[in-house]
Amino acid sequence: MTALQNAAPQNSGQRKILVTSALPYANGPLHLGHMMEQIQTDIWVRFQKSMGHQCIYVCADDTHGTAVMLRAEKEGVTAEQWIDKMNADHKADSEGFLIGHDNYYSTHSNENRELSSLIYNRLKENGHITVKTIRQLYDPEKQIFLADRFVKGTCPKCKAEDQYGDACEVCSATYEANELINPKSAYTGATPVEKESEHYFFDLPQFQDMLQQWTRSGTLQTSVANKLSEWLDSGLQAWDISRDAPYFGFEIPNAPGKYFYVWLDAPIGYMASFQDLCNRTEGLDFDDFWAKDADAELYHFIGKDIINFHALFWPAVLTSAEFKTPNGVFAHGFITVNGEKLSKSRGTFIMASTFLKHLSPEALRYYYAAKLGSTTEDIDLNLEDFVQRVNTDLVNKFVNIASRCAGFVKKAGGELSQNIAEPELLAEVIAAKANIAELYEAREYSKAIREIMALVDKANEYIQAKAPWALAKEEGKEQEVLDICSMGIHLFRALAIYLGPVLPNLTEKARTFLNVDSLNFTDLEQTLTGHAINKFKPLMTRIEMTQVEALIEETKQDVAREAAKGKAAPAAEQNKKADKKAKSSDTKPAGEGDGPIDFNDFAKVDLRIAKVLEANHVEGADKLLQLQLDVGNGETRQVFSGIKSHYQPEDLIGKNLVLVYNLAPRKMRFGMSEGMVLAAGEGKDLWIMEGDVNIPPGTRIS
Ligand code: MSP
Ligand code: ZN
Repeated sequence: MTALQNAAPQNSGQRKILVTSALPYANGPLHLGHMMEQIQTDIWVRFQKSMGHQCIYVCADDTHGTAVMLRAEKEGVTAEQWIDKMNADHKADSEGFLIGHDNYYSTHSNENRELSSLIYNRLKENGHITVKTIRQLYDPEKQIFLADRFVKGTCPKCKAEDQYGDACEVCSATYEANELINPKSAYTGATPVEKESEHYFFDLPQFQDMLQQWTRSGTLQTSVANKLSEWLDSGLQAWDISRDAPYFGFEIPNAPGKYFYVWLDAPIGYMASFQDLCNRTEGLDFDDFWAKDADAELYHFIGKDIINFHALFWPAVLTSAEFKTPNGVFAHGFITVNGEKLSKSRGTFIMASTFLKHLSPEALRYYYAAKLGSTTEDIDLNLEDFVQRVNTDLVNKFVNIASRCAGFVKKAGGELSQNIAEPELLAEVIAAKANIAELYEAREYSKAIREIMALVDKANEYIQAKAPWALAKEEGKEQEVLDICSMGIHLFRALAIYLGPVLPNLTEKARTFLNVDSLNFTDLEQTLTGHAINKFKPLMTRIEMTQVEALIEETKQDVAREAAKGKAAPAAEQNKKADKKAKSSDTKPAGEGDGPIDFNDFAKVDLRIAKVLEANHVEGADKLLQLQLDVGNGETRQVFSGIKSHYQPEDLIGKNLVLVYNLAPRKMRFGMSEGMVLAAGEGKDLWIMEGDVNIPPGTRIS
């Protein structure tokens, strides 16, 4: 497509910008961490559009790789079926949070296949692909090569058990998977064997100089550039871009049985999503945005965990393949909830879809904006602060400006006054545009919000001081009341424009109320004297802590359901295996005492020492005691146990019990039970299992 030549000349100063968020993995639902990134990106995109620029926002699902393949297998569907479902779910989540993607596509698309081949062929032609035989661990049972994360064993340095194949979490040593002592496949528990295989490598070291320069050319945050310098200084290594079958992905051209590693085709997915949009959009031309010398701007919003892929491999690949490199890679930190990582047991591993059942997307958009800066620092979603902040800033302060003034304007006939009562104040609010725009541009949203809220306070102070509600009771003050309230509406309009990128629904409602065509930064200087406004309808309602509590409760249930499914799924897999066996030879019917389990089955049960901190009777339960357990690492768990007729609560305190730590939490009539303590016997003869009182709580039993 090359229709742009015929298009109308662009406004002078209008920028052409292409923006992306990282492509979420298609192996699970989106959570509030993913949404933080999309919200950060969306605010920026909406701001650019509001400034009158052409800004296009594309994203997609990252569908390839072993994790997706195995997930689909576990669900008993094909990989294609699985990623289709994920794509529909992810799209719905993004829409629910008012993310204005211009296209949300998939890396499993023809466009991506073609672009990946094209790019690979260029890398090859340019002499940047080498082939090497490597030795890798292989699971003989599942017949699959094992990525480092899928091998576990004893650390060769400190001898800590149960460590991954790349690094030890106890002593931080890094090593090769085949150095592990007594390695086991994480899939099957089988002992891996070493096997040779040809791999394709991208010759990253040839880009050392290019990257030294590129990472220092203003494309990255300083702290990120500094971090990458360390990598660059210690020397780059060739990047392994192939994986062996079975693998869900694209086969490498002229290399049967070899697939592109998911991280090769994932960022190409940005291009593919844009290509798909171009195919459907008159006047939008791929080369205008991706050609080596294109003058459009390209920005990637990503999390700090995937910087090396976006700021080393990706620009090098684009350079070799003769495409444009990004103008900026913007890395953000991680979201924590109440000061901790998203946690399944605490109910803070909150899915986007669960959030939307209980709370408004704009509440979260506002809170994130009020916290986000341009650095890679983590931000905390403190749930109490969240409720308070949203209510105070948006409902009590911002919306209040309009709701206090609208009625008086309506009463006076519905048209705003011909006078601007306080021109200096309006001028001051409008003059803040440059600063606020600069802060949005620099992704300093928290600072922008602070500026805007300071103006909101000024607007409220003005109305408070003039007290139109008091004047309205006096005879002959009608014009003055109208002047004051019209002034309030002018201020409200300007502030709604400033908050527009963050609160698209609220701004849309404000637009209807104000009876205007648009509320963009470019509209700011217009004045609405004499303009007829519409009837005011509530723009936003307060949120309550009870909604948050319900959200946490439902999240705990989500987690329990997932965990229960996780348990059912391997069983289904077992059944399938059993089916096969039953057909070919003899297998005992499944049932009680059916044969030995392998070590891997046993190893799935995480048993730990738990110290009883508190034990209580449960009102209305004749069998249960409620236990509060210290399970180590500062974590406590509540467990309900059917031992009331055998133990007095006070006798249990201080005992070390055996807890099934990874049992899915269960919602009982009396509350959540977060695990199970082991006991011997049943009925009248029951003894709770105890460990020596000197064992530290949390110690694993194996
Ligand atoms: N599929 C890759 C990205 C490929 S881009 C070509 C991936 N996917 S992901 O689903 O794991 O993460 C998607 C984005 O969400 C990443 O930028 C990641 O940093 C971000 N986040 C995931 N969890 C997050 C938080 N808890 N907080 C903030 N962002 C987080 O990586
Ligand atoms: Zn170690």
